[in-house]
Parts: sequence; C-alpha cells; structure tokens
Amino acid sequence: MPRTAAEVHTDLVLEPRDVKFDWSRLPLHWIPDEPFATHTINVLHLLLPEGERWFTEVFKDALPLITDEQLREEVLGFIGQEAIHAEAHQEVLDHLLGQGLDPRPYVRQIAWLFQRILGPKPHLSPRQRRENVIERVAFVAAIEHFTAFLGNWALNSPGLERAKADPTMLDLLRWHGAEEVEHRSVAFDLLVHLDRGYGRRIRGMVLGGPLLVHLWVRGVRYLLAADPELRGRLKPSWRQAWDGAQRGMLPDPIQSLRSGLRYFKLRYHPTQEGSSAQALGYLATSPAARAAATR
Ligand SMILES: [Fe+2]
Ligand SMILES: [Fe+2]
Repeated sequence: MPRTAAEVHTDLVLEPRDVKFDWSRLPLHWIPDEPFATHTINVLHLLLPEGERWFTEVFKDALPLITDEQLREEVLGFIGQEAIHAEAHQEVLDHLLGQGLDPRPYVRQIAWLFQRILGPKPHLSPRQRRENVIERVAFVAAIEHFTAFLGNWALNSPGLERAKADPTMLDLLRWHGAEEVEHRSVAFDLLVHLDRGYGRRIRGMVLGGPLLVHLWVRGVRYLLAADPELRGRLKPSWRQAWDGAQRGMLPDPIQSLRSGLRYFKLRYHPTQEGSSAQALGYLATSPAARAAATR
C-alpha cells in the first residue's frame, strides 16, 4: 500500500550528502541574457555560507537542552546537511571572485551580522544563556520556513529550464532545495520542544522575515553593481522581480509574502508546506546526490 505523506515524513532519516559540483564552465550569467534573475538567485550564495554556518553553531549550542532522543538525531542530521550546504555555496562565491565579481565586501557584512549581532553573547548566566539559545533557535525556525518555501519553489520551477539555466546550478539549487524540504520541520520542532509559546515563534518571524527581505534587496543591488560585464548599468527594480516571477525564473513576491504570513497561523507546522516525497524523489535522481551516494 502506498505510504501517506505524513508516513514518508515521519520515517525520514536525515543524512548529509557529500556533494561536489564542477563550476569551471559556469557562465557569469548562468541564466542566459537574464542578469537580474541570475543575481537575484545568486544572493543565496552571498547569504548562505555565513548563515548556514551560524545555523549549525546555534544548533550545536542547543544540543545540551534537548531531552528527546529522536529530535536529537534529527538536529544532528540537520547540522550535517547545513554544514555541506554552506560549503557548496562557498564554492560558487569563490568562482564568482575568479570571474571578476568580488563578493567579499558584502559577505564581510553578513559575517559581522551573524557572528557579532546574532552570535552567542559572553558573560551570561546559565538561565540567560538558555534564553539566548532558544531566541536564536526561533530565528532559525523562521528562516527555515523561507528556505523550505524556496526549496519547494526550486523543485517546481520549469521556468528555469525554459530559460536554459545552467544545469549544474539547477542541480545545486534543487539538491539544496530538496534537503531544505526534507529537514523543514527540524528547527520548528526544536523550537516547540524548548518553548511552546506562540510569542517566541512570532518574534523570530517578525525579526527574521523583514531582515531577510532587506538583505536580499541589498544583495541584488550589490551583485548588479559589482558585475564586471554590467558595470552598474542595470538598476534593480521590483518590476523586474515581478517580471522574472511571471516568467517562472524567480519566486513570486506575493506568494513569498503569503507564505511568510502562514507562519503566523496558530496551527502552523512546516509539514503543511512542500512534499517530502517529492524532495526524496529529486534526491534519488540529482546528479550530485547520486554521485555522492557512490563515493
Ligand atoms: Fe541549507
Ligand atoms: Fe535548512
């Protein structure tokens, strides 16, 4: 008998897949003739290495607070997956630098944000330290809502093929997206395990959602200005974002906003978004994930 979506999700064992990508032939505009869409998605590479390393630090800090053995296993699987995601996106950053687009000034700001502003605070009492860890877990849970949304979008975005996007980059986006869908419940379940309160959950989104939008807009602006072929001639606009979404190359801004608002539902749970079966289906065919499985 076919398994239900809930059964597929419950039976998941999160395993890091040690993927490798060859970027040597990646064009600067890997969606041909679409620099705006290319750089809007490239913001992921700017944010994720520092962001996902920070996720793993937060979750390592949370490990001593976990009293449920299964959740602990899931958190360890999450840490393993996010650590590999961070390194995979870092390699794209290194490639951009080799192509004459220097991402480092922007990335330095992101590193400062995650390490200094959102990093662990020294000199806290054990009680304050616990509170600080849970507050940061709430922030991760809110961001993970969006990474799952984006992952689900990447898995269901034929517009990228129509636009002839680079297949290796598509595999990176979909492998990562599939793992985001696969582990989409972990941060939320960890938060509920540590604090069932609605207030903390909401605070994570009220802070995390607008911050993410702000960083994304700044990131697009930065990449377009730093692009050695464009030399600042292409100015970003919401109209281009809307146009890119209509042609299926970018997530729809309205759908993204609606998705953020669903996080406020009292009975929200990440499993209501995306499909674990679809994610596993992609991971079974992903060239990078298949190569990793045979290594
Ligand atoms: Fe990730
Ligand atoms: Fe994630």
